[in-house]
Amino acid sequence: METQEEDFTVTPWDVKGRVDYEKLIRIFGTQPLEDGILRRLKDLCGCELHLFLRRKVFFSHRDFDLVLKDIEEGRGFFLYTGRGPSGPMHIGHLIPFIMTKWFQDRFGVNVYIMITDDEKFLDEEDMTLDEARRWAYENILDIISVGFDPDKTFIFQDTEYIGKMYPLAIKIAKKINWNLVRAVFGFTGSTNIGLSFYPALQIVPTFFERRRCLIPAAIDQDPYWRIQRDLAGSFGYFKAAAIHSKFLPPLTGFEGKMSTSKPETAIFLTDDRKTIRYKIFKYAFSGGQPTVELHRKLGGNPDIDVSFQWLKMMFEEDDKVLREIEESYRSGKMLTGELKEYLAEKIGDFIDEHKRRREEAKELIHVFKYDGKLARYMWERELE
Ligand code: TYM
Repeated sequence: METQEEDFTVTPWDVKGRVDYEKLIRIFGTQPLEDGILRRLKDLCGCELHLFLRRKVFFSHRDFDLVLKDIEEGRGFFLYTGRGPSGPMHIGHLIPFIMTKWFQDRFGVNVYIMITDDEKFLDEEDMTLDEARRWAYENILDIISVGFDPDKTFIFQDTEYIGKMYPLAIKIAKKINWNLVRAVFGFTGSTNIGLSFYPALQIVPTFFERRRCLIPAAIDQDPYWRIQRDLAGSFGYFKAAAIHSKFLPPLTGFEGKMSTSKPETAIFLTDDRKTIRYKIFKYAFSGGQPTVELHRKLGGNPDIDVSFQWLKMMFEEDDKVLREIEESYRSGKMLTGELKEYLAEKIGDFIDEHKRRREEAKELIHVFKYDGKLARYMWERELE
């Protein structure tokens, strides 16, 4: 799992350098999400694929072909994803949740969302448990705003649901030795013992149903699934299937990832229109030329332009409009300022709508955590 010998690093806690996603597929031993498999998905759902799939924001997978087979042959599947509540969420964090909702809408399946207040308390030196729990509440509102089905979605917070998960967690933990977590996660002698146990817990929800579990997440979470897949058979459960997304790059360029401690790198779901515009104009790395004259003459480079890449990965749904923007920018007709203005408007609208739904989410939090059909069932049943 270590990618240190390359000029980039991807672990569940850290992304450094400019990620070469093709290389990562080889290092992690996953499969590219190829056109053939996407065509099969399109036939199965009888609909247009989400832009995250059309544009290969989700670029890699494990056993996604088997999920499709399970659908085709009527066995079904379930969805699992999560969030470590370490602070406010940024727009990149929504990618796996939007993808998960898309699958839930298309196939009507159950979704389990793990909120790892324990993980963030253990991982972040200055984080108190109270703070992690407060962020859990805030982040859950953002997640509900994505629009999951309240009867088929269970959002659970580790420090609350641990009693139910513990018997399964210790069975899993007994099969994971220290050498393995050290090799997979790079833990050292000074890593606290809470963190070295934590991977067992992140695996538990993949055993919530005796069907295949599909996990939409960015590629940084894959190390957990690798361990899960080695163990699942011995428990009589399915190996987890996963689809992996790229990272929405930081505003400032393609190195590393968006970070809460560096607000200039990210747009947060709580930012207002003015802040969004300011950040994009001041920090978005541009593929444009230094002067208008040069830009008109030589054109811009959308491939390295963060504003364009954000439109492509998330904010411009219309393929035709995206193509027009790309051509116009490349030819020098569209200026960097115009591109940034367009992106700022798109994100402003997106966040305004998100904030509106977030207000409504306050009424729903109890349903998703305790009262909805799936939530109630999960609180009542014994997990084994
Ligand atoms: P966390 O809170 O670090 O990240 C939440 C989800 O967001 C993805 N992600 C991104 N996706 C696109 N662009 C980005 N820039 C970006 N940054 C983060 C992450 O891959 C993740 O899917 N340990 C987990 C919590 C967890 C979990 C899970 C995640 C528990 N069970 C199952 C996914 C699936 C965590 O701390 O995620």
